[in-house]
Amino acid sequence: MTTTLTILVENTVPAKGDGLYAEHGFALFLERPEIRILFDTGPAGVAMLHNAPRLGVNLGTADAIVLSHGHMDHTGGLAGVLRAVGKPIPVYGHPAIFTDRYGKRGNDLRYGGLPYKREALEGMGAVFDLSPEFRQIAPGVHLTGEIPRRRAFETGDAHLYVKQNGELRKDPLQDDQSMVLETADGLALILGCCHAGLINTIDHVRAKLPGKPIHTVIGGTHMGFAPPEQLRETIAVLRDLSVKRLGLSHCTGLVAGAQLAREFGDAVAFCNVGYSLALD
Ligand SMILES: [Fe+2]
Ligand SMILES: [Fe+2]
Repeated sequence: MTTTLTILVENTVPAKGDGLYAEHGFALFLERPEIRILFDTGPAGVAMLHNAPRLGVNLGTADAIVLSHGHMDHTGGLAGVLRAVGKPIPVYGHPAIFTDRYGKRGNDLRYGGLPYKREALEGMGAVFDLSPEFRQIAPGVHLTGEIPRRRAFETGDAHLYVKQNGELRKDPLQDDQSMVLETADGLALILGCCHAGLINTIDHVRAKLPGKPIHTVIGGTHMGFAPPEQLRETIAVLRDLSVKRLGLSHCTGLVAGAQLAREFGDAVAFCNVGYSLALD
């Protein structure tokens, strides 16, 4: 059963990406014979709606939408895609996707959460299916649910906050989750931002789907916002896991991406707008 993955929104457009738009964010379209899933929506819908037809993707055919977490750069295109679909559609995520959240760098405080009210999205056709659990949403397609934070070196991004009772607190980002595909060779892991930590996420997937090697990881790793020790430790664990394809996108960042490419050579692909991958 072939699965096709196409990146619709990412921070960068490649040299051959004439006419495609880049936006800071992530959206990926998954097509299998029996289901089509939009994984994240980018920040505003502009790039997603522009790029999709140019990449041979008809968003109107989506059967489901997955939100990896509530950050705006992954959810801001939701209204646009709901309009494109034009009928009720399941939207999978964690119950905390509607958290009131911010990014703070110095004195610069910006709202970074889901930019729509739940009721407004439901009025446009979103049928929310929210759960913190690991679960199968289609044959061979799983969501990790909430990821236990067990690796001490995965400390996360210190610039991300939630507002509770008017006070800013460090955002635990418990809604961060990834999608797992069963393929002929094992598992492919699709990340949004992977705020939970790449190795925490891999640990969780291995515990839930034991005995199946993870051959592909694709998406945002948030390494660009992690301390250097985290990248070092992550590389050490990845070496032992022998992942065959490391598709780096979005919040991986150029510096961390370059370090990963030096370490893992041909296994690394820089997955920008228009990157497409077929998996058996
Ligand atoms: Fe992101
Ligand atoms: Fe994020």
